[in-house]
Amino acid sequence: MSESLLDVGVIDGTASPAGLRPEKFNRHTFWCGQSGSGKTYALGVVLEELLLSTALPLVIIDPNADFVRLGEVRDGVDAATAEALTSRDVRVLRPASHGGDALRARFSTMLPQSKAAIMRLDPIVDRLEYNAFLHLSDSAETLDASTLIGSLRSSDDPGQLAIAQRIENLGLLGWQIWAGEHPSASEIIAERPDATVLDIGGFAHPDESLSVVLAVLDDLWLRREERRPVLLVIDEAHNVCSPELSGTLGVAVRERIIQIAAEGRKYGIWMLLSTQRPSKVHPGVISQCDNLGLMKMSSPADLAELGGVFGFVPTELFARAATFEQGQALLAGGFAPADGVVRMRARYTHEGGADVRVPLRGRAG
Ligand SMILES: Nc1ncnc2c1ncn2[C@@H]1O[C@H](COP(=O)(O)OP(=O)(O)OP(=O)(O)O)[C@@H](O)[C@H]1O
Ligand SMILES: [Mg+2]
Repeated sequence: MSESLLDVGVIDGTASPAGLRPEKFNRHTFWCGQSGSGKTYALGVVLEELLLSTALPLVIIDPNADFVRLGEVRDGVDAATAEALTSRDVRVLRPASHGGDALRARFSTMLPQSKAAIMRLDPIVDRLEYNAFLHLSDSAETLDASTLIGSLRSSDDPGQLAIAQRIENLGLLGWQIWAGEHPSASEIIAERPDATVLDIGGFAHPDESLSVVLAVLDDLWLRREERRPVLLVIDEAHNVCSPELSGTLGVAVRERIIQIAAEGRKYGIWMLLSTQRPSKVHPGVISQCDNLGLMKMSSPADLAELGGVFGFVPTELFARAATFEQGQALLAGGFAPADGVVRMRARYTHEGGADVRVPLRGRAG
Protein backbone atom coordinates (compact mmCIF):
# COMPACT_ATOMS: atom_id res chain seq x y z
CA MET A 1 0.00 0.00 0.00
CA SER A 2 1.32 3.42 -0.91
CA GLU A 3 2.14 5.53 2.14
CA SER A 4 -0.33 8.18 1.12
CA LEU A 5 -3.50 6.04 0.93
CA LEU A 6 -5.92 5.21 3.71
CA ASP A 7 -6.05 1.45 4.34
CA VAL A 8 -9.75 0.65 4.24
CA GLY A 9 -9.65 -3.01 3.21
CA VAL A 10 -8.89 -5.11 0.14
CA ILE A 11 -9.95 -4.91 -3.48
CA ASP A 12 -12.84 -7.32 -3.70
CA GLY A 13 -11.88 -10.89 -4.65
CA THR A 14 -8.15 -10.20 -4.12
CA ALA A 15 -5.71 -9.79 -1.28
CA SER A 16 -4.52 -6.45 -2.67
CA PRO A 17 -4.96 -3.46 -0.41
CA ALA A 18 -7.71 -0.98 -1.25
CA GLY A 19 -6.94 2.61 -0.46
CA LEU A 20 -8.62 5.98 -0.35
CA ARG A 21 -6.95 9.30 -0.97
CA PRO A 22 -7.00 11.27 2.26
CA GLU A 23 -6.51 14.59 0.51
CA LYS A 24 -9.76 14.10 -1.40
CA PHE A 25 -11.85 14.42 1.72
CA ASN A 26 -11.77 18.11 0.77
CA ARG A 27 -15.00 17.37 -1.08
CA HIS A 28 -18.33 16.09 0.20
CA THR A 29 -18.84 12.34 0.38
CA PHE A 30 -22.10 10.39 0.24
CA TRP A 31 -22.20 6.93 1.85
CA CYS A 32 -25.31 4.89 1.12
CA GLY A 33 -26.66 1.36 1.62
CA GLN A 34 -29.63 -0.45 3.03
CA SER A 35 -30.04 -1.20 6.72
CA GLY A 36 -27.47 -3.71 7.94
CA SER A 37 -25.23 -3.34 4.88
CA GLY A 38 -22.42 -2.15 7.14
CA LYS A 39 -22.40 1.63 6.61
CA THR A 40 -21.79 2.63 10.21
CA TYR A 41 -19.10 -0.02 10.59
CA ALA A 42 -17.43 1.13 7.36
CA LEU A 43 -17.63 4.79 8.39
CA GLY A 44 -15.81 3.75 11.55
CA VAL A 45 -13.02 2.25 9.42
CA VAL A 46 -12.73 5.45 7.38
CA LEU A 47 -12.70 7.62 10.51
CA GLU A 48 -10.00 5.46 12.12
CA GLU A 49 -7.88 5.90 9.02
CA LEU A 50 -8.41 9.65 8.96
CA LEU A 51 -7.43 9.80 12.62
CA LEU A 52 -4.29 7.77 11.90
CA SER A 53 -3.13 9.50 8.72
CA THR A 54 -4.44 13.06 8.78
CA ALA A 55 -4.75 16.00 11.14
CA LEU A 56 -8.20 16.75 9.76
CA PRO A 57 -10.49 17.36 12.77
CA LEU A 58 -13.65 15.25 12.71
CA VAL A 59 -17.03 16.34 14.05
CA ILE A 60 -19.31 13.33 14.16
CA ILE A 61 -23.07 13.67 14.46
CA ASP A 62 -23.97 10.30 15.91
CA PRO A 63 -27.68 9.60 16.48
CA ASN A 64 -27.29 6.04 17.82
CA ALA A 65 -24.20 6.27 20.03
CA ASP A 66 -22.34 4.18 17.42
CA PHE A 67 -19.11 6.19 17.68
CA VAL A 68 -18.91 6.85 21.39
CA ARG A 69 -16.09 4.28 21.68
CA LEU A 70 -14.06 5.61 18.74
CA GLY A 71 -11.18 6.33 21.08
CA GLU A 72 -11.10 2.76 22.50
CA VAL A 73 -8.91 0.24 20.66
CA ARG A 74 -9.83 -3.45 20.40
CA ASP A 75 -7.59 -6.24 21.63
CA GLY A 76 -5.34 -7.70 18.95
CA VAL A 77 -4.64 -4.46 17.09
CA ASP A 78 -0.92 -4.01 16.42
CA ALA A 79 0.89 -1.94 19.01
CA ALA A 80 1.88 0.98 16.78
CA THR A 81 -1.66 1.45 15.46
CA ALA A 82 -3.14 1.10 18.94
CA GLU A 83 -0.72 3.63 20.35
CA ALA A 84 -1.38 6.10 17.55
CA LEU A 85 -5.14 5.82 17.93
CA THR A 86 -5.15 6.11 21.70
CA SER A 87 -2.95 9.20 21.49
CA ARG A 88 -5.58 11.07 19.46
CA ASP A 89 -7.77 13.59 21.25
CA VAL A 90 -11.26 12.11 20.86
CA ARG A 91 -13.97 13.94 22.82
CA VAL A 92 -17.33 12.29 23.31
CA LEU A 93 -20.16 14.63 24.22
CA ARG A 94 -23.36 12.99 25.45
CA PRO A 95 -26.63 14.16 26.98
CA ALA A 96 -25.85 15.53 30.45
CA SER A 97 -27.92 12.78 32.10
CA HIS A 98 -25.32 10.22 30.90
CA GLY A 99 -22.54 11.78 32.96
CA GLY A 100 -19.15 12.52 31.38
CA ASP A 101 -18.67 15.48 29.07
CA ALA A 102 -22.06 16.91 28.24
CA LEU A 103 -23.41 17.89 24.84
CA ARG A 104 -24.64 21.45 25.17
CA ALA A 105 -25.59 24.53 23.14
CA ARG A 106 -25.35 28.19 24.05
CA PHE A 107 -28.64 29.91 23.27
CA SER A 108 -27.31 33.44 23.65
CA THR A 109 -24.78 33.09 20.83
CA MET A 110 -27.13 31.46 18.33
CA LEU A 111 -28.32 33.39 15.30
CA PRO A 112 -31.67 35.19 15.83
CA GLN A 113 -33.34 33.09 13.11
CA SER A 114 -32.09 29.92 14.78
CA LYS A 115 -33.41 31.00 18.17
CA ALA A 116 -36.73 31.73 16.47
CA ALA A 117 -36.70 28.27 14.86
CA ILE A 118 -36.15 26.64 18.26
CA MET A 119 -39.13 28.60 19.56
CA ARG A 120 -41.13 27.49 16.50
CA LEU A 121 -41.68 31.11 15.58
CA ASP A 122 -42.67 31.69 11.99
CA PRO A 123 -41.92 35.19 10.64
CA ILE A 124 -45.21 35.36 8.74
CA VAL A 125 -47.68 33.22 10.68
CA ASP A 126 -46.51 34.63 14.03
CA ARG A 127 -45.58 38.05 12.73
CA LEU A 128 -46.40 40.12 15.84
CA GLU A 129 -44.59 37.78 18.17
CA TYR A 130 -41.68 37.31 15.77
CA ASN A 131 -41.30 41.06 15.47
CA ALA A 132 -41.30 41.50 19.25
CA PHE A 133 -38.64 38.78 19.37
CA LEU A 134 -36.50 40.52 16.74
CA HIS A 135 -36.46 43.76 18.72
CA LEU A 136 -35.76 41.82 21.85
CA SER A 137 -32.87 39.93 20.33
CA ASP A 138 -31.27 43.25 19.32
CA SER A 139 -31.15 44.27 22.94
CA ALA A 140 -30.83 40.84 24.58
CA GLU A 141 -27.92 39.50 22.56
CA THR A 142 -26.00 38.42 25.62
CA LEU A 143 -28.86 37.01 27.67
CA ASP A 144 -29.20 33.27 27.94
CA ALA A 145 -32.48 31.40 27.93
CA SER A 146 -33.23 31.50 31.64
CA THR A 147 -32.28 35.17 32.08
CA LEU A 148 -34.41 36.02 29.09
CA ILE A 149 -37.60 34.62 30.55
CA GLY A 150 -37.50 36.86 33.62
CA SER A 151 -37.22 40.03 31.59
CA LEU A 152 -39.94 38.85 29.21
CA ARG A 153 -42.41 38.08 31.98
CA SER A 154 -41.92 41.46 33.58
CA SER A 155 -42.60 43.28 30.30
CA ASP A 156 -45.88 45.04 29.59
CA ASP A 157 -45.47 44.45 25.85
CA PRO A 158 -48.02 41.77 24.79
CA GLY A 159 -45.56 40.43 22.19
CA GLN A 160 -42.92 39.82 24.85
CA LEU A 161 -45.41 38.22 27.20
CA ALA A 162 -46.47 35.90 24.36
CA ILE A 163 -42.83 34.88 23.87
CA ALA A 164 -42.53 34.10 27.58
CA GLN A 165 -45.63 31.91 27.37
CA ARG A 166 -44.26 30.20 24.28
CA ILE A 167 -40.95 29.39 25.99
CA GLU A 168 -42.80 28.00 29.00
CA ASN A 169 -45.31 26.04 26.93
CA LEU A 170 -42.54 24.42 24.89
CA GLY A 171 -40.68 23.60 28.11
CA LEU A 172 -37.49 25.07 26.66
CA LEU A 173 -35.98 25.94 30.01
CA GLY A 174 -36.23 22.31 31.13
CA TRP A 175 -34.07 21.07 28.28
CA GLN A 176 -30.73 19.50 29.19
CA ILE A 177 -28.81 21.11 26.36
CA TRP A 178 -28.36 24.68 27.60
CA ALA A 179 -24.75 25.41 28.39
CA GLY A 180 -25.02 28.06 31.13
CA GLU A 181 -21.62 28.09 32.85
CA HIS A 182 -20.52 24.89 31.07
CA PRO A 183 -18.73 24.74 27.71
CA SER A 184 -20.92 24.34 24.65
CA ALA A 185 -20.19 21.78 21.93
CA SER A 186 -19.19 24.63 19.63
CA GLU A 187 -16.66 25.93 22.14
CA ILE A 188 -15.12 22.46 22.38
CA ILE A 189 -15.11 22.01 18.59
CA ALA A 190 -13.45 25.42 18.22
CA GLU A 191 -10.42 23.95 20.03
CA ARG A 192 -10.27 21.44 17.14
CA PRO A 193 -9.81 18.14 18.98
CA ASP A 194 -8.90 15.33 16.57
CA ALA A 195 -12.49 14.09 16.82
CA THR A 196 -15.60 15.32 18.59
CA VAL A 197 -18.43 12.78 18.78
CA LEU A 198 -21.85 14.34 19.33
CA ASP A 199 -24.16 11.68 20.74
CA ILE A 200 -27.41 13.37 19.81
CA GLY A 201 -29.70 10.44 20.70
CA GLY A 202 -31.03 10.05 24.20
CA PHE A 203 -32.43 13.51 24.82
CA ALA A 204 -35.90 13.59 26.32
CA HIS A 205 -37.18 15.87 23.58
CA PRO A 206 -36.31 15.33 19.88
CA ASP A 207 -36.04 19.10 19.38
CA GLU A 208 -33.07 19.10 21.75
CA SER A 209 -31.06 17.01 19.26
CA LEU A 210 -31.95 19.27 16.35
CA SER A 211 -31.24 22.39 18.40
CA VAL A 212 -27.78 21.24 19.41
CA VAL A 213 -27.01 20.28 15.79
CA LEU A 214 -28.24 23.68 14.61
CA ALA A 215 -26.05 25.46 17.17
CA VAL A 216 -22.98 23.47 16.02
CA LEU A 217 -23.68 24.03 12.32
CA ASP A 218 -24.35 27.74 12.79
CA ASP A 219 -21.12 28.21 14.68
CA LEU A 220 -19.06 26.38 12.04
CA TRP A 221 -20.73 28.48 9.39
CA LEU A 222 -20.29 31.80 11.22
CA ARG A 223 -16.58 31.06 11.59
CA ARG A 224 -16.18 29.95 7.99
CA GLU A 225 -13.83 32.82 7.14
CA GLU A 226 -11.32 31.31 9.56
CA ARG A 227 -10.93 28.55 6.94
CA ARG A 228 -9.95 25.94 9.49
CA PRO A 229 -10.64 22.55 7.90
CA VAL A 230 -13.16 20.23 9.50
CA LEU A 231 -14.90 17.06 8.34
CA LEU A 232 -18.52 17.00 9.42
CA VAL A 233 -19.59 13.35 9.55
CA ILE A 234 -23.34 12.79 9.69
CA ASP A 235 -24.53 9.21 10.15
CA GLU A 236 -28.25 8.67 9.50
CA ALA A 237 -28.19 11.97 7.65
CA HIS A 238 -31.95 11.76 6.98
CA ASN A 239 -32.43 12.93 10.59
CA VAL A 240 -31.07 16.33 9.66
CA CYS A 241 -31.45 16.78 5.90
CA SER A 242 -34.40 14.72 4.70
CA PRO A 243 -36.57 16.49 2.12
CA GLU A 244 -39.49 15.52 4.36
CA LEU A 245 -38.30 17.30 7.49
CA SER A 246 -40.94 19.79 8.49
CA GLY A 247 -41.34 22.34 11.25
CA THR A 248 -39.29 25.48 11.63
CA LEU A 249 -36.43 23.77 13.43
CA GLY A 250 -36.06 20.79 11.10
CA VAL A 251 -36.18 23.07 8.09
CA ALA A 252 -33.59 25.44 9.61
CA VAL A 253 -31.17 22.53 10.17
CA ARG A 254 -31.70 21.17 6.66
CA GLU A 255 -31.28 24.58 5.04
CA ARG A 256 -27.99 25.09 6.85
CA ILE A 257 -26.74 21.69 5.63
CA ILE A 258 -27.80 22.49 2.07
CA GLN A 259 -25.86 25.76 2.37
CA ILE A 260 -22.77 23.99 3.68
CA ALA A 261 -23.11 21.42 0.88
CA ALA A 262 -23.20 24.21 -1.68
CA GLU A 263 -20.68 26.64 -0.24
CA GLY A 264 -18.75 24.94 2.57
CA ARG A 265 -16.10 23.31 0.40
CA LYS A 266 -14.13 26.45 -0.25
CA TYR A 267 -14.09 27.32 3.46
CA GLY A 268 -12.85 23.87 4.48
CA ILE A 269 -16.17 22.62 5.84
CA TRP A 270 -16.47 19.21 4.22
CA MET A 271 -19.14 16.62 4.84
CA LEU A 272 -19.36 12.83 4.94
CA LEU A 273 -23.03 11.89 4.99
CA SER A 274 -24.48 8.43 5.39
CA THR A 275 -28.03 7.20 4.89
CA GLN A 276 -30.03 4.20 3.66
CA ARG A 277 -31.58 5.55 0.48
CA PRO A 278 -30.68 8.49 -1.74
CA SER A 279 -34.21 9.89 -1.57
CA LYS A 280 -33.84 10.31 2.19
CA VAL A 281 -31.35 13.15 1.74
CA HIS A 282 -32.29 16.43 0.08
CA PRO A 283 -31.17 16.55 -3.59
CA GLY A 284 -29.45 19.88 -2.89
CA VAL A 285 -27.05 17.97 -0.64
CA ILE A 286 -26.44 14.79 -2.65
CA SER A 287 -25.89 16.70 -5.87
CA GLN A 288 -22.91 18.43 -4.23
CA CYS A 289 -21.15 15.17 -3.30
CA ASP A 290 -18.10 14.15 -5.35
CA ASN A 291 -17.22 10.92 -3.52
CA LEU A 292 -19.48 7.90 -3.23
CA GLY A 293 -19.43 4.88 -0.93
CA LEU A 294 -22.19 2.46 -1.89
CA MET A 295 -22.93 -0.68 0.10
CA LYS A 296 -25.64 -3.31 -0.49
CA MET A 297 -28.65 -1.80 -2.15
CA SER A 298 -31.33 -4.10 -3.54
CA SER A 299 -33.77 -1.51 -4.76
CA PRO A 300 -33.41 -0.89 -8.53
CA ALA A 301 -35.17 2.47 -8.12
CA ASP A 302 -32.63 3.61 -5.52
CA LEU A 303 -29.75 2.42 -7.69
CA ALA A 304 -31.18 4.26 -10.68
CA GLU A 305 -31.52 7.42 -8.62
CA LEU A 306 -27.90 7.19 -7.50
CA GLY A 307 -26.87 6.55 -11.09
CA GLY A 308 -28.53 9.83 -12.01
CA VAL A 309 -26.51 11.77 -9.44
CA PHE A 310 -23.18 9.96 -9.81
CA GLY A 311 -23.21 9.75 -13.58
CA PHE A 312 -19.46 9.18 -13.73
CA VAL A 313 -19.77 5.69 -12.19
CA PRO A 314 -20.22 2.87 -14.75
CA THR A 315 -23.73 1.36 -14.61
CA GLU A 316 -22.41 -2.19 -14.29
CA LEU A 317 -20.64 -1.26 -11.07
CA PHE A 318 -23.90 0.07 -9.62
CA ALA A 319 -25.70 -3.13 -10.61
CA ARG A 320 -23.30 -5.18 -8.48
CA ALA A 321 -24.50 -3.43 -5.31
CA ALA A 322 -27.72 -5.46 -5.40
CA THR A 323 -25.83 -8.62 -4.50
CA PHE A 324 -23.20 -7.19 -2.14
CA GLU A 325 -22.52 -8.94 1.12
CA GLN A 326 -22.16 -7.03 4.35
CA GLY A 327 -18.89 -5.09 4.29
CA GLN A 328 -18.60 -4.86 0.50
CA ALA A 329 -18.59 -1.32 -0.83
CA LEU A 330 -18.34 0.38 -4.19
CA LEU A 331 -15.97 3.33 -3.76
CA ALA A 332 -16.01 5.89 -6.54
CA GLY A 333 -15.14 9.50 -7.22
CA GLY A 334 -12.07 11.55 -6.45
CA PHE A 335 -11.22 9.80 -3.19
CA ALA A 336 -10.95 6.38 -4.89
CA PRO A 337 -7.72 5.85 -6.88
CA ALA A 338 -9.87 3.70 -9.21
CA ASP A 339 -13.65 3.22 -9.03
CA GLY A 340 -14.26 -0.31 -7.80
CA VAL A 341 -15.56 -2.72 -5.18
CA VAL A 342 -13.72 -3.25 -1.91
CA ARG A 343 -14.18 -5.39 1.15
CA MET A 344 -13.85 -3.22 4.23
CA ARG A 345 -11.27 -4.28 6.80
CA ALA A 346 -12.08 -5.09 10.43
CA ARG A 347 -12.42 -2.21 12.87
CA TYR A 348 -9.57 -1.22 15.17
CA THR A 349 -11.83 0.53 17.63
CA HIS A 350 -14.96 -0.60 19.41
CA GLU A 351 -18.39 -0.09 17.92
CA GLY A 352 -20.77 1.67 20.25
CA GLY A 353 -24.16 0.26 19.44
CA ALA A 354 -23.64 -3.12 17.72
CA ASP A 355 -26.74 -4.99 16.52
CA VAL A 356 -29.03 -6.58 19.08
CA ARG A 357 -28.92 -10.39 18.86
CA VAL A 358 -31.93 -12.72 18.95
CA PRO A 359 -31.89 -14.31 22.40
CA LEU A 360 -31.54 -18.10 21.99
CA ARG A 361 -32.53 -20.81 24.47
CA GLY A 362 -30.30 -23.83 25.07
CA ARG A 363 -32.33 -26.83 23.78
CA ALA A 364 -32.79 -29.78 26.07
CA GLY A 365 -31.22 -32.85 24.36
N1 LIG B 1 -17.28 -5.40 7.66
C1 LIG B 1 -17.86 -5.91 8.76
N2 LIG B 1 -17.27 -6.85 9.50
C2 LIG B 1 -17.86 -7.34 10.61
N3 LIG B 1 -19.06 -6.96 11.07
C3 LIG B 1 -19.70 -6.03 10.39
C4 LIG B 1 -19.16 -5.45 9.19
N4 LIG B 1 -20.02 -4.54 8.72
C5 LIG B 1 -21.06 -4.55 9.56
N5 LIG B 1 -20.88 -5.44 10.56
C6 LIG B 1 -21.83 -5.71 11.65
O1 LIG B 1 -23.14 -5.77 11.11
C7 LIG B 1 -24.08 -5.06 11.90
C8 LIG B 1 -24.77 -4.00 11.02
O2 LIG B 1 -23.80 -3.10 10.50
P1 LIG B 1 -24.01 -1.53 10.53
O3 LIG B 1 -24.57 -1.11 11.82
O4 LIG B 1 -22.73 -0.92 10.10
O5 LIG B 1 -25.12 -1.38 9.40
P2 LIG B 1 -25.77 -0.06 8.78
O6 LIG B 1 -25.65 -0.16 7.30
O7 LIG B 1 -25.19 1.13 9.44
O8 LIG B 1 -27.30 -0.23 9.17
P3 LIG B 1 -28.41 0.90 9.55
O9 LIG B 1 -28.75 1.60 8.26
O10 LIG B 1 -29.56 0.11 10.08
O11 LIG B 1 -27.79 1.81 10.54
C9 LIG B 1 -23.31 -4.46 13.05
O12 LIG B 1 -23.54 -5.28 14.20
C10 LIG B 1 -21.86 -4.55 12.64
O13 LIG B 1 -21.05 -4.87 13.74
MG1 LIG C 1 -25.94 2.60 10.69
